[in-house]
Amino acid sequence: TPRVFSGIQPSGGLTLGNYLGALKRFADSQNSGVQSIYCMVDMHAMTVWQDPAKLARATRELCAGFIASGVDPDRSILFNQSQVAEHAQLAWIFNCVARMGWMKRMTQWKDKAGKNQENASLGLFAYPALMAADILVYHATHVPVGEDQKQHLELTRDIATKFNNDFGVEFFPITEPVIEGAATRVMSLRDGTKKMSKSDPSDMSRINLTDDADAIATKIRKARTDPEPLPSEADGLAERAEARNLVNIYAALENSSVEAVLAEMGGKPFSEFKPRLAELAVAQLAPISGEMARLMQDPAEIDAILRHGAEQARAIAQPILARTYDIVGMVR
Ligand code: TYM
Repeated sequence: TPRVFSGIQPSGGLTLGNYLGALKRFADSQNSGVQSIYCMVDMHAMTVWQDPAKLARATRELCAGFIASGVDPDRSILFNQSQVAEHAQLAWIFNCVARMGWMKRMTQWKDKAGKNQENASLGLFAYPALMAADILVYHATHVPVGEDQKQHLELTRDIATKFNNDFGVEFFPITEPVIEGAATRVMSLRDGTKKMSKSDPSDMSRINLTDDADAIATKIRKARTDPEPLPSEADGLAERAEARNLVNIYAALENSSVEAVLAEMGGKPFSEFKPRLAELAVAQLAPISGEMARLMQDPAEIDAILRHGAEQARAIAQPILARTYDIVGMVR
């Protein structure tokens, strides 16, 4: 049976990239009838230094972000990773299945560790094994993510395959990455070759889910573009990274396609397109930041949602971990 799992790090604010690449898609797919499990991966966040008070706040704010984006905790399981110890337990077994060489090839490891790998945390290096455990401890079959997580999901498949081969079982499913829609890679508003990211030093490079209407409109108005009007076909965006990014964002917000947006907007200058995009973005995003702020006024309620979600998640994970222990020969 299909089962969806995905995770988001509570490591600072949420961006339009997280919204279009993940949250909005989670909310939109809620009617599919497939059981969906969404995790605030606090253990992943601490692979780089997190101030404890900020980590706790970011975890609650992320939960508020899920709910404000339309993910209903009565229909999907919402919880934070550290409350379900089975993730860490399975991750240890995967640490012993995965190979150093696989980990060294991960581009996120290379980017995040930078030149000073000797001084990176061991957790940052092992990060993808914990991610594989997140997914496989539920036998999840489908993982909706943005493009940047593709390599980690390939590694998850490699770990499942090696485990099954090593122990001569057909136990862990080979997970399908689900990387769909018009905005699986939202780019910086200042540089169309860089991913929109919460760690970019320039706040003008991104739209935060907590930005108010004025901030959203200003950032779109000032977004970098080229002087040409929009093309009427998708081919015309091939060499125009900034223009392509804004059209992708528009299409994703509208739940339409790049082709449909260009059929309507082709030939129009950015002076006309940007206000339309700003209007669409504000209409959709401003209520989310309002709702997040409202939810954050009652942290106890958020904690109760996470605790309840953790209980539901644990009920699925426990028997799968127990069978894994049996397979590898751990006496219980
Ligand atoms: P994280 O926290 O960096 O991002 C959360 C989700 O947002 C997507 N995303 C984007 N999508 C489009 N454009 C962007 N600019 C953009 N920036 C971020 C990410 O692709 C992701 O879907 N390792 C994961 C968290 C994780 C996880 C998991 C995900 C841990 N365990 C298990 C899936 C399954 C991460 O760091 O995502």
